[in-house]
Parts: sequence; structure tokens; C-alpha cells
Amino acid sequence: MSVIQKIKGFADMFPEDSRAFTRMEDAARLIFGRYGFGELRIPVLERTELFAKGIGEDTDVVGKEMYTFTDRGDRSLTMRPEATAGALRACIEAGVIEPGKPSRYYAFGPMFRYERPQKGRMRQFHQIDAELLGSAEPQADVEVILMLRDYLAELGIGELTFELNSLGCRECRPEYRAALTAFFEALDHEKLCEDCRRRMHSNPLRVLDCKVPNCKALVKDAPAIGDHLCGGCRDHFSAVLALVDSAGLTYTLNPRLVRGLDYYQRTTFEVTSGAIGSQTAVAGGGRYDGLVKLLGGPDAPGVGFACGMERLAMLMDKQEAPRPDFYLAVTDTREGSGALNAALLLAHKLRQRGLSGDCDYTAGSMKSRLRHAGRTGARKCYILGAEEFDAGQVTIKDMDEGEQMKIALAAFDN
Ligand code: HAM
Repeated sequence: MSVIQKIKGFADMFPEDSRAFTRMEDAARLIFGRYGFGELRIPVLERTELFAKGIGEDTDVVGKEMYTFTDRGDRSLTMRPEATAGALRACIEAGVIEPGKPSRYYAFGPMFRYERPQKGRMRQFHQIDAELLGSAEPQADVEVILMLRDYLAELGIGELTFELNSLGCRECRPEYRAALTAFFEALDHEKLCEDCRRRMHSNPLRVLDCKVPNCKALVKDAPAIGDHLCGGCRDHFSAVLALVDSAGLTYTLNPRLVRGLDYYQRTTFEVTSGAIGSQTAVAGGGRYDGLVKLLGGPDAPGVGFACGMERLAMLMDKQEAPRPDFYLAVTDTREGSGALNAALLLAHKLRQRGLSGDCDYTAGSMKSRLRHAGRTGARKCYILGAEEFDAGQVTIKDMDEGEQMKIALAAFDN
């Protein structure tokens, strides 16, 4: 019978890999906790309209990559492709967003995008997402950027580039969009892909984000948003840059950083690494003033980011398995002696005392059992042989020092 296999672009994770994810989650709790962020747990499934409205119909994510289906109640539902829209939906529904009174949340979990799988690009991947809602100030942008830097440092990941840009706001964006459309019209735009020929009118910023090589080449000399920012956006971005400078963050300005989601305004940023293949972005985010209101909430600003956990894992040192405290070796091979039952009860008592370890519940020779104990990396091997069992004892062998001693089994009774 053939084995049922996992879906393309989805991965199973065994302890060798999931330990890195646990480490990332623990580090997020530690660092984000210091910044006053609390953990939000939100559903994986949302109504499709949440993403269509929040992320934007013209984006690749909404237009081409969502796992959308009709449920048994005839509702169109989508497996979340990112966490921001769902986090905001939850906060709006709970009424916790108050302009001028920032609230801070983070969330972990699987996201789903029907992209072409390759190294660092999965159809189910995991994000650590952080959102600061209710502050329009440049300090809030810088707070999340510094929190991201602290977080990456806590994970021991270096050699990263922070790229920053400003995408303008409702005031200055129309002028920039017009400049972009005029630029595309003057181009040999028949060479743009079909989507971009449509988007150059409906949403020209998306053309800058197109992954089709021809489009990438054609937009190389497109006007930069930096030349079209209004006074407010220019001041905001200058304040952000001055603050990150004074916090000692090294960054590069990337006027081409438009991000793949429509909700961004003003500051956007990405953290990239040259060490993980062609999918270089390990984290990305920015300010999304207007999104809360668009989704039916108060007119409150927000700023946040998400890290791609699979990509961070590629940059982290291997997480070694913790060393077990004991291995329980049964060397009493007499049939029906009761030593295996005694081993189970002894292992249980050791665990109740806070020790970690295991037992194979198979009796064997001292040599084979000790070899196994060595393989588990246990600090101590508890040996239950015929002699020990009959005397109501257990031998404890220190696996590093080689010393051993006998202790009465009754000593573990309380
Ligand atoms: P994003 O840039 O679409 O932003 O995704 C954030 C990170 O998720 C990326 O930098 C990358 O590391 C990872 N990622 C995205 N797609 C994949 C994939 N197919 N396979 C593996 N990793 C992937 C957002 O999702 C925004 N919601 C971030 C945000 C939060 N902005 C404001 N608040």
C-alpha cells in the first residue's frame, strides 16, 4: 500500500527542527514582554473579505496565493496568509483599540500562501507577528524596529541588513501614483505582464513589487516615492531615521521597498540576510494607519512586523536536545521477574522528582543497555539487574565520571 504523503509546500517538523521554533517563541515572549506586548491567539480561518479588504485585491497574496474555499454553510473562508488583518479584526471586535492609548500584541502561528515552493518559501510557513496599535508617532515605529533588533540579537542572529523606506500617506500617495502611471505609460508597457498592465492604472505601486523578471527590469528607473512625500511624511520619516540613528541601528535606505501588501503607509522596513538563498527577507513590516478604520474600527493608527520562522531557523545555531538526567536500564532478563514493572514505577518516581529520562522496557545485557544509555546522552544510568532487583536496590552509574553506587528502591518512595 502506498504511503499517504504530505502536501507540497507543507512540512512536518520533528524535535531536531521544532526545538528552534520553541526557542524563537520563548525569546519572543521574553523580549516582546519587556516591551509590554501581550500574546494574542487568533483563528487560522477568517472570512475571505477580511483579507480582500485589508491586504488588497491587487496584491499577489490576495489575487493568486490564498487558500480560499466555501464551507458547508456556503461562506467563503480563507486560511490566513498573514496575521495583521486577523489581529486587527480581533482587536476591533473586542473594542480594545483606543487612539492615543497604544496597545501591543504579538502572535505566532502558521500562515498559508499558495506560492511556488523553494528554499525558504513554503505554502505553510510560520510567523512571529507583533502589532502596536493606537500610536501615530515616529517613536512607535522606532520602538517596533528596535524590538525586532533586540529579538534577532537574542536569537544570536547577526549579519542582517535593515532596509527602510517611507511609502507616503493618503495625502501624497495620489501624486506618486500618478507619476508612476505616467512613467509606465511612457514605457513600452506591452512588455509588462498581464497583471501589471492592469495594475499600472488600478494600483501602480504593485507593479514595483512584481516578481516577473521582465517587469522587474522595466520598472528599474521608475520614480521613487521619496521625491513625492508630503511635508508630514517627510518629517515623520526624518524623525524615524534620526531616532534609529541615535539608537545605533545601522540601516540602508531602499526607495524600492514597497512591500507586498496594500495596507502600508509611511514607514516600511525589511530585514534581509544574504545567507539563506534567494528568499532573503527574514522579517518585514511597517506602519498601516487607516487599516483599522478600513476594517470597521476606530480611526486608529498602527505599526508592526512579522518574522518568517523558517527563515530565522536557517540562521540560528542548531538547538541541541537537552541532556536527560537518567536512562533506566533493565538488565534483569529473567522472564516474569517483575523488574520491568519496577522500572516503570521507578522512572515515574524520578520524573515526579523533576528529573527527565526514559526507559525502553526491554531487558538486555549490561553492554547493550549501557550503549543505549550512552546514546541517549543521559547523565546517569539507573541499572536494575537481577541482583539489584532481588535486593530491592538500583545501581546508579554516573555516565561522565564512571562512578557507581547502589541505593535502595524504597529511598524513592517519598
Ligand atoms: P510579509 O513580508 O508578507 O509581511 O511576511 C513577513 C515574513 O514572513 C517575510 O519577511 C518572510 O520571512 C516570511 N514569509 C512570507 N512568505 C513566506 C513563505 N511563503 N515562506 C516562508 N516564509 C515566508 C506580513 O506578513 C505582514 N503581515 C507583516 C506586518 C505585521 N506588517 C505589519 N504588521
